Amino acid sequence: MKTLNDIRSTFLSYFERQGHAVVPSSPLVPRNDPTLMFTNSGMVQFKNLFTGVETRDYSRATTAQKCVRAGGKHNDLDNVGYTARHHTFFEMLGNFSFGDYFKDDAIRFAWELITRDLGIDKDRLCVTVYHTDDEAAEIWKKVAGLSDDKIIRIATADNFWMMGPTGPCGPCTEIFYDHGDHIWGGPPGSPEEDGDRFVEIWNLVFMQYEQFEDGTRRDLDAQSIDTGMGIERVAALLQGTNDNYATDLMRSLIEASADATSTDPDGPGKTHHRVIADHLRSTSFLIADGVTPSNDGRGYVLRRIMRRAMRHAHLLGAKEPLMYRLVPALVRQMGAAYPELGQGEAMIRETLLQEETRFRQTLDRGLKLLDDELAGLPEGADLPGASAFKLYDTYGFPLDLTQDALREKGRAVETEGFDAAMAEQKAKARAAWAGSGEAADSTVWFDVADKHGATDFLGYDTEEAEGQIAAIVKDGALVEQAGAGETVQIALNQTPFYAEAGGQVGDTGTIRTPNGLAEITDCRKTAGVFIHFATVTDGEIATGEAAQLVVDHGRRTAIRANHSATHLLHEALRAALGDHVAQRGSLNAPDRLRFDFSHNQAVTREQLNGIEAEVNGFIRQNAAVETRIMTPDDARALGAQALFGEKYGDEVRVVSMGHKDRSGKGADKSTYSIELCGGTHVRRTGDIGAFVLLGDSASSAGVRRIEALTGTPALAHLRAQERVLQDTAEALKTSGADVPERVRALLDERRSLANEVAQLRRELAMSGGTKGPEARQVNGTAFMAQVLSGVSGKDLPALVDEYKSRLGSGAVLLIADADGKAAVAAGVTPDLTGSLSAIDIVRAAVEKLGGKGGGGRADMAQGGAKDAANADAAIAAAEAVLGG
Ligand code: ALA
Repeated sequence: MKTLNDIRSTFLSYFERQGHAVVPSSPLVPRNDPTLMFTNSGMVQFKNLFTGVETRDYSRATTAQKCVRAGGKHNDLDNVGYTARHHTFFEMLGNFSFGDYFKDDAIRFAWELITRDLGIDKDRLCVTVYHTDDEAAEIWKKVAGLSDDKIIRIATADNFWMMGPTGPCGPCTEIFYDHGDHIWGGPPGSPEEDGDRFVEIWNLVFMQYEQFEDGTRRDLDAQSIDTGMGIERVAALLQGTNDNYATDLMRSLIEASADATSTDPDGPGKTHHRVIADHLRSTSFLIADGVTPSNDGRGYVLRRIMRRAMRHAHLLGAKEPLMYRLVPALVRQMGAAYPELGQGEAMIRETLLQEETRFRQTLDRGLKLLDDELAGLPEGADLPGASAFKLYDTYGFPLDLTQDALREKGRAVETEGFDAAMAEQKAKARAAWAGSGEAADSTVWFDVADKHGATDFLGYDTEEAEGQIAAIVKDGALVEQAGAGETVQIALNQTPFYAEAGGQVGDTGTIRTPNGLAEITDCRKTAGVFIHFATVTDGEIATGEAAQLVVDHGRRTAIRANHSATHLLHEALRAALGDHVAQRGSLNAPDRLRFDFSHNQAVTREQLNGIEAEVNGFIRQNAAVETRIMTPDDARALGAQALFGEKYGDEVRVVSMGHKDRSGKGADKSTYSIELCGGTHVRRTGDIGAFVLLGDSASSAGVRRIEALTGTPALAHLRAQERVLQDTAEALKTSGADVPERVRALLDERRSLANEVAQLRRELAMSGGTKGPEARQVNGTAFMAQVLSGVSGKDLPALVDEYKSRLGSGAVLLIADADGKAAVAAGVTPDLTGSLSAIDIVRAAVEKLGGKGGGGRADMAQGGAKDAANADAAIAAAEAVLGG
């Protein structure tokens, strides 16, 4: 049996033999096209080669390209799991000619490869051509010997391929495989063409034109070829099935899902396994290419796919997160062809686990709400949009997940209602946002990028340079010039200002033109354009002018130190805590650095000390920081820490520093830290100066955060700490080193003194050492009242008894004030309890003290209050009880 991996290598090696460069798949996040959400076909990475904007040292190429079609125009998500051929992730095999061969060879190669190398039965093949393309029809006849009825002319857009509304395009010819008459369907162009019998397996596009926004086309200078073969479909037919999910690769993932849930791969959970197998591929590949789940853009598409899979895992009865457990099975299948999967395995597993753990917290409640809502609706009625919105907003159910859940029940969502609820929420958010000054429309920057291209960054080598002002934007719109006092955004053809990225903050500084001066307060980038946030402080600046750009040197130096220290910290964390430590976020500001990383327990003081010492060791090593530009392959071979995603182009920047063997004597001469990084760094590690860790805290589930200082702020922090110690030592009249011991001794002493005082008070009160207050006659009853300070409530009854016995006949009231509260106790001698109750006395006193209640017996009662401030009034109230 030809496995999917066999087919991939057969394809690539066939074209390699035909003089094609085997080019790696580009990342799923296209680097060269802001309009495309995900790479959706093999030609995306070659777009500029077809239009002639770019040339490379090859004119023939072949690829196995990873593609995602979910979100945006090409969205297959809804159907995945329910059909034989829909996927969110698939691989497209392709061969490309850039002004090299054209129709003749393209058709000859395709025919030879499928009928000879892949051994597909000629009699089962037919082709389509664009209706006017006689040339292609002739070539098919000549090369393949196909009869006229097997060369079908199609007049629709199906045989005219366009990448999008603009860009390279041309007529195409498609190759179809007939699975046989046991399956319903007809040849392309027939009324039954939508059936499953005839399946398109390969599309050959003759790139001849470039289409522009206004609908016009130009002939491309060179005629080119772009082809795309769906590897899953070819694998299916070669393995004797028309179901992509029955092929070896998909089947192994389905079985992994079945094993992990102890369910039958072909039982009632069949659809769930298919969804999980497909979504495991798209989510893992997206994460490996740097996409993380979020609430908008690409991250939201990823989240939608993940959550859809997770609901199906739930339907299979999985009690614990499932998806992350299947990643090793995927890496086993596809890791050899796509090394980024193996490199990103820990990150992929962690991201899936975290998302599934979080989503499970609301999934049950959301599904229950959905059931309740459905129960209240008439038979078969659509779910109101407001309910779907609530599921989205409160329970994290993306709309397509709710639709997927309803599909099983033959129901749908009222999408207009959902859209309306969503629009209302957005309008509210927009209203809240308006006035925050951040609302500048980024589309203007895409226009600037189109017109002027990306900004050239000069800031790795220089902090001062000249540039030409390409655009000035005020309040989201282009303006020609700006005068003193105006706040604008400026784009230049080149700049030494670093634009915020990868955690490193944007540079600040000045821009000076012949007639004006502006302060730059920040720099960011959109669509490759560096946007300088500026306030004109003097004169006037205008578009087209040459400008002298100067970065704030001191600030940049401090940022550099923090960024380089972050790399050392990252490596030190991995060394101390393990290879699972992956960067989750960072901040490199002038005054501090912050590093978030995956690790699910607190870092101990001891580990922190070790990490701090290790980083300082590498600072003292004063090794040169090396920056190299290389291919992703070479960077990978070096073991660089990074994800191969959107941030990295064909050429990546690799920053390395430190030698593992610090003594210089040992055998390990390898480099300590190697990272893919676009940031600015110190020249030698010694430039960092010093590194002081401020501590570790939890940032979010499974993510820790470390904050640290370098250089001058680090020393200033240590100095400030020292000053506090010195002040303390002076106050204690001791040396700094003796402070802890002295403080401990003082605390012990204080504790034992406090105990002693309490003991003495008790003894004093109870030993009769206190004479007690004078008894006075109130309404013929002897009455003793006393306010005691520092005596606790529990010592009062003994004292009351003592005074009662001294009185012989009478009443006693004691109010004690200790530990920030007041205690009250009263006693009445037995001869008087018939007519006078200690409870009444206590209650009257407590009330005056701002307390409530009190209880006990007629001869002895107790109560409590806030404080004894109103003791006089309390005693008077007690006397009133006696009738005084
Ligand atoms: N770019 C062509 C396609 O995706 C080959 O079908």
